[in-house]
Amino acid sequence: MLTKKVVELLETDHILQEYKVNGWVRAFRSNRFIALNDGSCLDSLQCVVDFENTDEVTLKSISTGAAISVEGTLKESEGAGQRVELEVTSIEILGIADPEDVKKTILQPKKHSMEKLREQAHLRVRTNTFGAVMRVRSKLAFAVHQYFNENGFNYVNTPIITGSDAEGAGEMFKVTNFDLKNIPTNEAGEIDYSKDFFGKETNLTVSGQLEAETFALGLGKVYTFGPTFRAENSNTSRHLAEFWMIEPEVAFCDLEGNIDLAEDFIQYVLEYITRHCASDLEFLENRLVQDEKSKPEKDRSPMPLREKIDFVLKNNFKRVSYTEAIEILKNCKPNKKKKFNYIIEEWGADLQSEHERYLVEKHFGCPVVLYDYPANIKAFYMRLNDDGKTVRAMDVLFPGIGEIVGGSQREERYDVLLSKMKEIGVDEKELWWYLETRKLGTCKHSGFGLGFERLVLFATGMSNIRDVIPYPRTPQNAEF
Ligand code: 4AD
Ligand code: MG
Repeated sequence: MLTKKVVELLETDHILQEYKVNGWVRAFRSNRFIALNDGSCLDSLQCVVDFENTDEVTLKSISTGAAISVEGTLKESEGAGQRVELEVTSIEILGIADPEDVKKTILQPKKHSMEKLREQAHLRVRTNTFGAVMRVRSKLAFAVHQYFNENGFNYVNTPIITGSDAEGAGEMFKVTNFDLKNIPTNEAGEIDYSKDFFGKETNLTVSGQLEAETFALGLGKVYTFGPTFRAENSNTSRHLAEFWMIEPEVAFCDLEGNIDLAEDFIQYVLEYITRHCASDLEFLENRLVQDEKSKPEKDRSPMPLREKIDFVLKNNFKRVSYTEAIEILKNCKPNKKKKFNYIIEEWGADLQSEHERYLVEKHFGCPVVLYDYPANIKAFYMRLNDDGKTVRAMDVLFPGIGEIVGGSQREERYDVLLSKMKEIGVDEKELWWYLETRKLGTCKHSGFGLGFERLVLFATGMSNIRDVIPYPRTPQNAEF
C-alpha cells in the first residue's frame, strides 16, 4: 500500500484507492472524524472511522496530539469543508497523548497567545500558525540558494568562531574553554589569552563579511548564509541575539550595482513564496486580519499580507540619500510636534527605527533605500566619498520592519582604510589579512547583509521576530 503525505492526498486525482498516512491527531469528533495533520501542509486530512467495528481501547487512544498511522480508501467527501476524505480500514496507535497531559499544553485546541506558544516552543510547530511560518521560512531559505545559484554566486561558509569584530561595535559573545573559576593571568594581572584554546581572544562572529570579501576577491561573486551573534541588549520585536544572515559580496561592483542586487534578490525570493506557499500565506493573511481587529485602526496594516508582498514585487524601491532623508525628517510633523522619541535636529543624526518607519510607511509609502550616510555613524570598512564626510553605505528599509538590509561599497584603497582603522581604533594587527587584500590586486567591490528573520517577518506578517525562528535567543532567554 502506498504511504502518502497529507498534502499529496488532498491534491491527488487518484481517488477510490487505498493509502496509508502517518500523522498527529488534531481533533477527533463524534467518535468518527479524525483531523489528521502531518505538517506537509496547513490542512488536515479528514479520516472517517468506522467506530462500530473499532475496539474501545483504540478509539480511546485517538485523541488530540496522538501519533497514528491509518490505512483506508480515499473518497470524495460527502461533508462540506473538504474535497476528499479517507475512509479508514485500519488504525495503528503509534504514540498516545493523554488528554490530561495535553490539557496543560498548547496542543489543547483553543486560542493561545504567542507568548504562551513561545514558552512551549518544542510543541508550537504543531500549531497552524507556527507550522505555516516554518514552511514559509524553509521555502524562503531554498529560494535564497536558488537565486544565487542561478546568478553565478558561490556559496561560502565563513567561520563562526573568529578573532575579529567585523562591525566594530563590540557586541560579541566570547568563546573560551578556560575554567571560569580559575582563569590564567599574566604578570600584569590581565587575562592570559595565550593559554586559551586558540591562543588568543576569540568570539562568535557578528558577520561573515570580512572573510566573504576575501573570497569575492578571488571567486568574484559569493554569498554566505549562516548564523551570526550579537550580544546587544536590545529587547525589541526585531532583534535576536542569534540570527541568520545572508551576505552577498561582489567584486568589480559599485554601490548602484549593490542596490540593484538587493532589490532583485528580495523580489525574487518573495515572488518564489507567492508561488510555493499560497495556502500558508492565505492562512497567515487571515490570521493577521483577525489579530488586528482588536487594534485601533491606525495601528492596523494598511494592506493585507499578500497585497503587501505584491506591492514590493511590482514597485521599485525608492532611492533616497541620507541628506535628503534628514531634510524630510527635520521638517515632518512628528518631528516638529516632538512625537518622535529622538528628535532629528541636524545632519549627522543616527536614524532610529521610528524615523526609518516614518519614511517608509508615512512619507514614501514603499520600500526605501537610503544611501551615502555620514561616515561616523557607519562601520570602518565603507568607502569614503569625495566629500570626505559621507560613505557609500546603503540600508534597505521595509514597511513594518524598518532596516532589513545593510550594506556598502567597500573601502578598497589601502591608505584610506588604514587611516580610518587607526582613527577609530580598529585592531589592524588582528585584521592584517583584510588589509593585505588592499595591497594585492585590490578592486572596487560591494556587498550587503540581509537579516533572514526580518525577511521572514515581512513575508509572514508576524509581529515579533521571536515567532519566526524555531528557538529564539534573546537577553535572559536561551531555553530549549
Ligand atoms: O546592518 P548590519 O549590522 O550589517 C552587517 O553586519 C554587515 N556586515 C553586512 C554586510 O554588509 N555584509 O546587519 C545586516 C542586517 C540588518 O539590516 C538586519 O536585517 C539584520 O542584519 N540584523 C539583525 N536581525 C535580527 N536581530 C539582530 N540583532 C540584527 N542585527 C542586524
Ligand atoms: Mg545596519
